[in-house]
Amino acid sequence: MSDVVSYELKGRIAVITINNPPVNALSHGVRKGMQDAFAKLNADPGADAAVLVGGGRTFIAGADIREFGKPMQEPGLHGVLDQMEASKKPIVAALHGTALGGGLEVALTCHWRVGIASLQVGLPEVKLGLLPGAGGTQRLPRLVGPKMAADMITTGNFIGAKPALENGVIDEIVAELVPGAIAFAEKVVAEKRPLRKVSELTDKVKNVDPKFFEEYRATLKKKVKGFLAPMHCLATVEAACTLPFAEGMKREAALFKELHDHPQRAAQIHIFFSEREAGKIPDIGPEVKPKEIKSAAVIGAGTMGGGIAMNFANVGIPVKILEMEQANLDRGLAVIRKNYETSVARGSTTQATIDKALSLISGTMSYDDIGDADIVIEAVFENMDIKKQVFGKLDQVMKQGAILASNTSTLDIDEIASATKRPEVVIGTHFFSPANVMKLLENVRGKDSSKETIATVMELGKKIRKVPALAGNCFGFIGNRMLHGYTREAAELLLEGAMPWDVDRVIVEFGLPMGPFQMGDLAGIDVGWRVRQGKGTPPEKHNRVADRLYEMGRYGQKTQAGYYKYDGRNATPDPVVEKLITDTSAEFGITRRKISDEEILYRCMLPLVNVGAQILDEGIAIRSSDIDVIYVYGYGYPTYRGGPMFWAEQMGLEKVLGLIRKYEQEHGSRWKPAPLLQKLVDQKKGWAAAKA
Ligand code: 3HC
Ligand code: NAI
Repeated sequence: MSDVVSYELKGRIAVITINNPPVNALSHGVRKGMQDAFAKLNADPGADAAVLVGGGRTFIAGADIREFGKPMQEPGLHGVLDQMEASKKPIVAALHGTALGGGLEVALTCHWRVGIASLQVGLPEVKLGLLPGAGGTQRLPRLVGPKMAADMITTGNFIGAKPALENGVIDEIVAELVPGAIAFAEKVVAEKRPLRKVSELTDKVKNVDPKFFEEYRATLKKKVKGFLAPMHCLATVEAACTLPFAEGMKREAALFKELHDHPQRAAQIHIFFSEREAGKIPDIGPEVKPKEIKSAAVIGAGTMGGGIAMNFANVGIPVKILEMEQANLDRGLAVIRKNYETSVARGSTTQATIDKALSLISGTMSYDDIGDADIVIEAVFENMDIKKQVFGKLDQVMKQGAILASNTSTLDIDEIASATKRPEVVIGTHFFSPANVMKLLENVRGKDSSKETIATVMELGKKIRKVPALAGNCFGFIGNRMLHGYTREAAELLLEGAMPWDVDRVIVEFGLPMGPFQMGDLAGIDVGWRVRQGKGTPPEKHNRVADRLYEMGRYGQKTQAGYYKYDGRNATPDPVVEKLITDTSAEFGITRRKISDEEILYRCMLPLVNVGAQILDEGIAIRSSDIDVIYVYGYGYPTYRGGPMFWAEQMGLEKVLGLIRKYEQEHGSRWKPAPLLQKLVDQKKGWAAAKA
């Protein structure tokens, strides 16, 4: 047998084991090994049946994602699955860990399936911009019916062993994996059961009301705006209910190919690997052990502090929140309670879960109460003096070894650390709003942050179910430093001829959840104004419209008027704002012009790329893909475009540079191309060569 697939007789049952760590992906060697093993099974007079099992921590977790986009090496998965289904001897899949994608499709091709209680199964291809392409779209509906199959395939969500058993995905839950599966196979043999081929089942897929798909499609379309794969997934489930198996397989193959060849697939797979890569810090090896975080404290119960505390409670870590005044503490705790209650009302969690989480959150006004926490995260006002006072106090009260973190969104971590005598445990942990929802944790490394401190907050990110990425220390770090150019250019476009709703429409059509002016109205025009005042720099032309809105008391959604007028959350263009903008253009002697959607898009998106290149060159970002991860998980950049750096590379860095040069000529030095961009274009290389 091959290195990665072994064949061993246990009595009269052949145990075929896949050993392709870490997740037994269906790489070429595995497919070849399976082909040989099943040929041997049918030729082996000593074997009556087979058990197929994954070695190590899991059954097969899917196709080898690294092989997508490369030439396929025979045997393909389809050939192996045809061979398995045609086997004269029964095959029982023995499932543990996560049987996902092509892995579940292999299991569905076996004649029976057993699993242990901790098993999870799913078809997550949709998250990679794909659909299950090895019969999963045709076999799963035949077992569980169209509704459950559509839910699983269009969302990619997993289910556990119990629902898998109740819905017929598996046939038995066994206490011990291999012995249980062997016993099941022996029973099948002893009872001379006819081979059960899922492809031949029809009960659950016949006579499905076409209205079901019409309605499902209408709802899904609204949910998955911009993503191509979910709609294709649904079309394949519909094919399972309207076409014979072989025809359905052809439809699956055709739609799979469309997705496979689409740029969304490349972008989504880029994000899959980038997210995992972002957790790896080149100078921090496995010898650096993160500290265990068993308790936490948060300073400030405002917008961010409350959300940060919820993250700890949600994973069972007790957390204390400290405020200066009782009223602020009470208000902060009430907001937390309300957020949890909303989740229960929406059905996304249970009362018991939130009761447990709430029992782990407590408030205090005394620093003496928090000294024994393993980590403290400061989330007070964005003001250096206040933050330094807080860190001075933390230095006095926190136990030795505790991590002292700041949620600052822009400020200098080293200056904050200078307020303590232990800068090695000071670090930035930048959450995104709403902190209990947004997946990104942008950790910020100070010049003295120790490797252990960095490893601890990276590990903590995973523990609280975030996607952690590491930034260097500079104003705004990675995410907010890049955003500055985006919002500035949007503001310039208003003066040149666009309206807020023109810009927002283009950005939303591109795939972001909201445009820069919708974002401004949500965050508060007054907040931006205060930041500008805080910096003490003279008023700038491009901020004139925002300053005027502030003076008019139009603070955004909270005053039901900002760039838009509001009825609740419903925004509509406002003639008052239109006049304000045209008057401001006139005041500056600007002749307004029609600005194309393409120009709006490039003017807003290319500053992200140009500053991203600068950040990469300075080493503030370790790799360009970390920037993509930060934008996808922190700023709602569409996953299906792969992040700003990936988007730029797909477009071609030469074209990107050409546009930036053109805007430099038209608008001056703020568009000066990053030297790295010029260098890579000269060398005809991509971002990966940035460090060369
Ligand atoms: N192919 C190649 N590599 C894979 C992989 C796959 N299907 N799944 C995981 N890996 C790699 C990861 O990149 C990572 O590599 P690294 O250590 O070098 O960074 C390593 O395996 C471990 O992965 P995780 O860090 O994600 O480990 P976890 O334990 O947190 O999660 C998992 C394990 C739940 C299996 C998760 O990795 C996962 O969701 N994997 C993807 C599953 C998937 O999407 N399957 C469908 C593939 S497409 C398909 O099957 C098409 C078919 O229909 C034809
Ligand atoms: P906020 O104004 O909602 O909350 C700050 C809280 O800190 C208030 O409740 C205040 O009473 C309390 N506070 C102030 N000084 C204090 C002190 N000395 N001791 C104890 N409590 C004190 O502010 P928000 O939005 O929560 O921001 C907090 C931090 O998070 C800032 O550094 C901000 O830049 C950062 N941040 C904010 C984001 C946002 O979208 N709001 C996003 C990411 C980071």
